[in-house]
Amino acid sequence: MWFTGYSASGKSTLAIETERRLHDLGHLTYILDGDNVRHGLNSNLGFSPEDRAENIRRIGQVSNLFSDAGIFVLTAFISPYRADRDSVRAMHRSGSFIEVFVECPLEVCEERDPKGLYKRARSGEIKEFTGISAPYELPLEPEIVIQTHRAPVEECVERIVAYLRESEFVSKSGTSS
Ligand code: ADX
Repeated sequence: MWFTGYSASGKSTLAIETERRLHDLGHLTYILDGDNVRHGLNSNLGFSPEDRAENIRRIGQVSNLFSDAGIFVLTAFISPYRADRDSVRAMHRSGSFIEVFVECPLEVCEERDPKGLYKRARSGEIKEFTGISAPYELPLEPEIVIQTHRAPVEECVERIVAYLRESEFVSKSGTSS
């Protein structure tokens, strides 16, 4: 399950809460996000388009390995380029890749600014910041769109879990499938 969206749009929060639900249903799960990937595996990468492409490519490959092992993977990366997201989709078995567009207006993300990064990007201290000085290409056909500025986290997660049930990623009766 690939969460994409601006910084501070809510990707990690939704991934964590969705993981909790999947775990309760008996699934093995793993979250890949900036904290465990950009500090380790991808610590040699920055935020140029080329480095972001490589960041996403490696995460896609790692996701594939986890998923081969029967683990439900949730990723939380901005992944701003459509071509990068599409190539990760192409790496995965057909029907096994769920793109979740975490849609939240830039103004709201900037207002949230939990790490003060938007402020630093506006002042020019951080270059190539997504939404400010680097692009975000909207997903064209994501499986799920979640608007985090319109509903509380629990409601957003309910929608995600409902999708997983409808598409039979998890069993409709509530147990692991
Ligand atoms: S991605 O574009 O390559 O997918 P990724 O999700 O790994 O980005 O990392 C984004 C996080 O790195 C942001 O949430 C923010 O905390 C931090 N960051 C630091 N510099 C930048 C930048 N120039 N653009 C976007 N995020 C940045």
